[in-house]
Amino acid sequence: MEIQKLHLQETKAPMDLLLLADPSEEQVNSYLKKGQCYIAKISNRIIGVYVLVPINSRRIEIKNIAVAENEQGKGNGKELVKHAVANACLQGYKVVEIGTGNSSIGQLALYQKCGFRITGVRKNFFKKNYEEEIVENGITCIDMVRLEMVL
Ligand code: ACO
Ligand code: ACO
Repeated sequence: MEIQKLHLQETKAPMDLLLLADPSEEQVNSYLKKGQCYIAKISNRIIGVYVLVPINSRRIEIKNIAVAENEQGKGNGKELVKHAVANACLQGYKVVEIGTGNSSIGQLALYQKCGFRITGVRKNFFKKNYEEEIVENGITCIDMVRLEMVL
């Protein structure tokens, strides 16, 4: 897998992939403006994406991470999370944050396997900020679970 930074002035972000991680195109566009977008390619095909958004001079957040459906479950997501963390470290950040839904069991497993620890819950985040109801694993997504890794 080859991972490279996308220059958003020149190339459009892969919205189809970004929307797998976040169903609100409006939210995606708003953090793309503030963040850094990286894409992963296999045989010159874009199969993954992640977006890093600085919170302050010490903290940065992985706001969006996604792998194309036919490439999931093969270790690509783990490689992207590890790349994002190493990238944040190289840029001098001390803490990486990530947030996901209470219903996102696989994502919670992945982030903890990569070394993230749960730090809190933003109650009703998805209920307040998303018009459409989100259901995963038979669970309604209501709250955001916050995780972080100290570098
Ligand atoms: N129980 C235990 N472990 C699990 C479970 C589960 N239910 N589900 C997944 N895992 C583990 C896997 O076993 C694997 O760990 P392992 O390598 O130790 O076996 C790991 O989680 C998944 O690893 P990958 O194969 O590397 O992940 P994948 O390539 O499928 O990418 C991703 C994960 C990015 C979440 C992908 O499924 C995806 O794009 N989903 C849709 C978009 C999405 O939900 N993005 C995250 C939203 S939150 C955010 O963007 C900040
Ligand atoms: N992803 C999504 N859903 C899952 C997952 C998963 N990884 N694992 C379980 N579930 C769902 C199942 O799909 C099922 O839901 P469904 O009926 O909608 O499909 C539900 O969780 C499990 O239901 P049951 O079959 O009724 O549960 P079970 O009889 O297995 O009992 C229990 C669960 C009590 C946790 C049992 O596994 C057990 O005794 N485990 C060991 C002891 C333990 O861990 N106890 C809890 C510790 S915490 C405490 O005690 C307060």
